[in-house]
Amino acid sequence: MPRDVRDLAWSGESDDALGLFDAAIDATASFHGDPLGLCKKALEIDPGLHAARLLQGHVLALSLNAPFRAAAARAIAPLDDPAVAFCEREGLHKAAIEAWLAGEPMRASAILAGIVERWPRDLMALFFSHQADFFAANNDAMLPRLDQALEGWNEGLAGHSWLLGMRAFALEEAGRYAEAEDLAIGAVERQPLDAWAIHARGHVLEMQGRTEEGIAWYRSTEEQWSKDCFFAVHNWWHRALYHLDREEFDDALALYDRGIAPDERSISLNLCDAAALLWRLWLRGVDTGGRWPVVAERFEAHSEAPCHIFNDVHAGLSFAACGQWERFDAHRARLAGTAGTASGHAAMLRDLGLPAIDAAGALARGRAVDAADLLEAAMPHEALMTGSHAQRDILPLTLIEAELRAGRGLSARRRLERRAGARPASAWIARDLARC
Ligand SMILES: [Fe+2]
Repeated sequence: MPRDVRDLAWSGESDDALGLFDAAIDATASFHGDPLGLCKKALEIDPGLHAARLLQGHVLALSLNAPFRAAAARAIAPLDDPAVAFCEREGLHKAAIEAWLAGEPMRASAILAGIVERWPRDLMALFFSHQADFFAANNDAMLPRLDQALEGWNEGLAGHSWLLGMRAFALEEAGRYAEAEDLAIGAVERQPLDAWAIHARGHVLEMQGRTEEGIAWYRSTEEQWSKDCFFAVHNWWHRALYHLDREEFDDALALYDRGIAPDERSISLNLCDAAALLWRLWLRGVDTGGRWPVVAERFEAHSEAPCHIFNDVHAGLSFAACGQWERFDAHRARLAGTAGTASGHAAMLRDLGLPAIDAAGALARGRAVDAADLLEAAMPHEALMTGSHAQRDILPLTLIEAELRAGRGLSARRRLERRAGARPASAWIARDLARC
């Protein structure tokens, strides 16, 4: 069996093909280039290099996109042939991808965690474990998992800097902002194309309301995260968020048009970023022109094949904001059907997804009291939305707006004062406090 740059053995016969897989892993970790194309080339050289199929499966499954998920299933299908042999670690990767495809991100997260524990130098497992934790409401596990894995690494090992970017993000989600910021800056100095590390510092600046520094950071690194980068849309979204906090709505919309507005290549997560920005503007009553219906239209196909709560909620917000009640009701009915099953996706929908969507619907229909009641009851489960603190912030922002519209100024004030502690200069918060 050939061994990769971290001395890990994989099924196959060709060192050249495995070299392409190593390059595909780097492309994945940096969010740049074409990892799927590199895997395809590797498989043309060595069809027995299962690692390349597994990486294709992981990348496609993580897109949370129905057509890509079907492609992920096809990518790993050859491993179902009983005549095909693979090692235990490869079998675990396959099981993790299958869990993703079955709507079980928590199971995927647990399987990948098991791989990392036994083979800490498996960078494919580390990267997708980090992402699976993120999409399985398991952010608390990210930091200890990385710290444990790092004990099996040294600075000279290929790919070490990717772990620093991941650890910076995990530190940020753990609220250890100063350490996260230092590590992110160091990781970007070592690897300027580490879009995840750039993003980790972006999160710190967002959480601390350091909007001027956030805008400057994203402007100074723009070449590194916006060109040939499949994490560009989300970074444009972060850059626009700083402007929202400053109530610079025209600037936020200009960035939306420049880097976030969906097109035919947009995956579900890109649509979520678009909806997440437009919803914040909708809460503020900002006229966003014809942008919402474009997002709702593109969400329709994803709504027909729901696979993850993060998409489900953002699709619901889009239909509600547009007043597309036929789509909204059909979406809700499909999700209610899923919520009646025994899957992990179902449990997330029951406790958080459906109440959040119902709250958005109620707010858009002018029933602010209902919206506030629904969201207040769902907030103990807010982590089930998955994603980062910054992404889930859409829930408390919506709750505060619902309370303000419902005449519950006292409760809204308490929440706003807590937020103001972390963001004393926020123009958004100042305006809402004046409404209480
Ligand atoms: Fe983010």
